[in-house]
Formats: sequence, C-alpha cells, structure tokens
Amino acid sequence: MATAAAPQRDEPTAMPRHVAIIMDGNGRWAARRHLPRAAGHRAGVEAVRAVSRAARSMGLEALTLYAFSSENWRRPEDEVSGLMGLLKFFIRNDLAELVRENVRLRVIGDYRRFPGDVTALVDDALARTAANTGPILAIALNYGAHAELVAAAQRLARRAAAGELSPDSIDSAAIESELETRDLPPLDLMIRTSGEQRLSNFLLWQAAYAELLFVDTLWPDFGADELDAAIRAYGQRQRRYGGL
Ligand code: FPP
Repeated sequence: MATAAAPQRDEPTAMPRHVAIIMDGNGRWAARRHLPRAAGHRAGVEAVRAVSRAARSMGLEALTLYAFSSENWRRPEDEVSGLMGLLKFFIRNDLAELVRENVRLRVIGDYRRFPGDVTALVDDALARTAANTGPILAIALNYGAHAELVAAAQRLARRAAAGELSPDSIDSAAIESELETRDLPPLDLMIRTSGEQRLSNFLLWQAAYAELLFVDTLWPDFGADELDAAIRAYGQRQRRYGGL
C-alpha cells in the first residue's frame, strides 16, 4: 500500500505562528570589533530589519522583539538615549515599508515612560499601521512580564471589587484577555541569541508551552538564515503540552 513520504529529517514539519526573540549580544559583537557598544546596537537594528523581512517572507503571523526591558533603565544614560535614538531611526526609516507591506505594528510594554518625542513617533507609527491586516510586528518597549501580570491582576481585581466579575470566574482565559499580547496568536517559539539561557522577564505567561531555543549567535549576526534554522529546529520538536 502506498504511504505518504515521510518528511525529510531537515524538513520543517510545523511552522510556528508566533516567534519571540530576546535580541542579546549587541555589546559583545561590538567589543569583539573594538567598537563602542552603540555600534553594536546600530548593527542590531540592521538585524531587526533583516529578521522582520525574513519572518514575513516565511509566512509567520507574528514576530515579537524584546527591544527595551523595564530593567534596561539601569544602563548608563547615554546608552539608554542611544537606544531611544535607534528606535526613532528605525521608525523613521522603516515605517513606509511596514505600511506598504501591510504589517500591523504593535507595542507591548509601558512605552509612555519614554521621552515625548519617542512616544509621539510610536503613536503615529501605530496609528498609521492600525488599519493593516497582515503579519504582526510587536516591539517590546519598557516591557516586563511581572508588570504585565500585575496590571492584569489589578484590572481583574478592580472589576471584582466593583461587582462586575466573580473572583471564582477568573480563569486562564480571563487573565490572557488582560495581557498585552491578547490580540496575538499563541507564542510557539522563543529564541534568545548570544548564548545566555534565561527569559529575563520576557513573556513569562505566554512562554508556558512555547519551545525555547538558545543560540550562540550574537544578535547583529542573526539574519534570515539563522531564523530559517531556528524554524527548522522548531519543526523537529515534538510539542506535547503535558500529554504523552
Ligand atoms: C542586548 O544586547 C540588546 C538590547 C538591550 C537592545 C536591543 C535593541 C536593538 C537591537 C536596537 C533597537 C531596536 C529596535 C526595534 C529599533 P546587549 O547590549 O545586552 O549585549 P551584551 O550582552 O553583549 O552586552
């Protein structure tokens, strides 16, 4: 009896819908070249562009990038303002392409703590891509998973205190509907570059059943080929969600 051909060993068997990346290693990339850290972040923006283009051409529904964590304020002031400058540069340079490519830009995190010019630019970019219907590019700005969960708990508690909601009716779906990722597909794959193996307060709830992939490549060296390899590695994994 004829049977369907088994997939090739290196052929992806499943495509993730939503990939998140902890973009790490810009500083080490620069140090290896005897360049200032800012040069590493600038190269990191090139990688953001390359990887978001590749994600679109591979057909991912959503890509979430950790650009600035709520802990990154601890960095020297000039590095923080350099990162804000790069965010502005990215929006000014790439917004037209995102609009043209039907990308839905999203921001997760409390970006309103950023300086007014950055906030205004982000708001404008969000408004100009709001009517788009294509793939989602979510950028985490001043994001921390604990803060996200605390805010979700506070909103639910307020509704319970107001009698709008019974505490017993609060379930996983109720919490998920309060998360900043509520409009995104479930997270399938979380990648961290540069060899570090931790989640650093990124999408902790959403990562519950995600596949985790830690790669040694420094973020500025991560491009379309590395994303493709990550997606192939994902395709080889067997997701069991606690079952057998
Ligand atoms: C980690 O490298 C990277 C960051 C803290 C920032 C990531 C930001 C960008 C790639 C640029 C801005 C993003 C957008 C979306 C325009 P690190 O500095 O911690 O590297 P190290 O661990 O080697 O020092």
